[in-house]
Amino acid sequence: MLKVAVMFGGKSVEHEVSIITGLQVIENMNKEKYEPIPVYVGRDGRWYTGKDLLDISNYKDIPSLLKKCEQVVLPPVPGLNKLYYYPFRKKFMSKEYDYIDVDVIFPAFHGTHGEDGTMQGLFQLANIPYVGSGVVGSATGMDKVIMKDIFKANNLPIVNYLWFLRKEYEKNKEAMLDLIESKLKYPMFVKPANLGSSIGISKAKNRDELFDAIEIAIYYDRKIIVEEAVKDPMEVNCSVMGIDRDLEVSLCEMPVPWEEFLSYQDKYMRKEKGGKGSTTRQIPAPIPEEKTKEIQELAKKVFQILDCSGLARIDFLLEKETMKVYVNEINTIPGSFAFYLWKPLGISFEKLIDRLIEYAVERHKEYARNMYTFETTLLLKAADRGTKM
Ligand SMILES: Nc1ncnc2c1ncn2[C@@H]1O[C@H](COP(=O)(O)OP(=O)(O)O)[C@@H](O)[C@H]1O
Ligand SMILES: [Mg+2]
Repeated sequence: MLKVAVMFGGKSVEHEVSIITGLQVIENMNKEKYEPIPVYVGRDGRWYTGKDLLDISNYKDIPSLLKKCEQVVLPPVPGLNKLYYYPFRKKFMSKEYDYIDVDVIFPAFHGTHGEDGTMQGLFQLANIPYVGSGVVGSATGMDKVIMKDIFKANNLPIVNYLWFLRKEYEKNKEAMLDLIESKLKYPMFVKPANLGSSIGISKAKNRDELFDAIEIAIYYDRKIIVEEAVKDPMEVNCSVMGIDRDLEVSLCEMPVPWEEFLSYQDKYMRKEKGGKGSTTRQIPAPIPEEKTKEIQELAKKVFQILDCSGLARIDFLLEKETMKVYVNEINTIPGSFAFYLWKPLGISFEKLIDRLIEYAVERHKEYARNMYTFETTLLLKAADRGTKM
């Protein structure tokens, strides 16, 4: 029985969405194979564990919930594979500090401080197997500017864009608006570079709206991307699963925006006809077969060039008139791990979780083959001549 720490919440504006994704993973995990350990990360970044975390209704009052939980920490000590209760305390009648054994970590974070490579870096240092993309795939997948620069370098179809720093803009706002208008055509989308769930994103059809849009975006990030809008777009998303070159693609979905574009409201707050609250989506997406193939191939390419692992969802925008396909973004930890895109292919959420944990263990083994030492007499030499290089 593998002990799997499922982590969710986090210092992110997508904190709430992650709680739902995390609990969905625990609910659908095969309890004969895995012992799920819920680890909730508060908005302040502190880690908590406790069985009361398993009941979604307890999140109506998080301060009271946390009173029934215990703080834990993961020391970045390679191979320790233990969550220690914090403040550290001794086991009853023992000199040993009290801890929980963990075999694999299953991060279910969305956004900053969890989907952006930071947590993945800690797991790398702790040398513990973890689900999903590593530091590089997570970080490049999160930063929309770096992501688009890499897509451009690989000649992937993307819209025209430019980016700037909040500080630059604040130095001379009018000059920045002039620059943007000289490079891009309206309508435009303004986005914080490192965010998600459509938070902080606005569409601008003229200079006034552009100004307002930037004023909102700089609230969330020091780095801003502005891009041309795809005219009358159809949104199509596709998930990729696998490790290295051994990849599979899911069916494509078409989420249906109710507003001008797919907003946070659309993504999480709408009531599906007679169904639970979630995005209205069409699976498979109502597009020609050859377009589906084109998107699935592009999705695989994106997954590989960002060196992703496990599973991701890649989002596309199709111009309805020309059916031209643009890669919009990747989500390396998508909502609900996009289980609904694999289910029609006969891969249940439970099976999907199995696969992701297997990939995590497999990738950990592959990393362990790397040499992290190099035979050299440099220090012996330095002992004689001092630290000058
Ligand atoms: N260039 C664009 N053209 C048209 N619609 C866009 C464009 N960029 C974003 N959108 C709309 O905004 C939504 C959110 O943008 P996205 O880049 O996916 O950010 P997030 O990471 O917050 O999901 C998209 O789902 C789409 O509806
Ligand atoms: Mg998106």
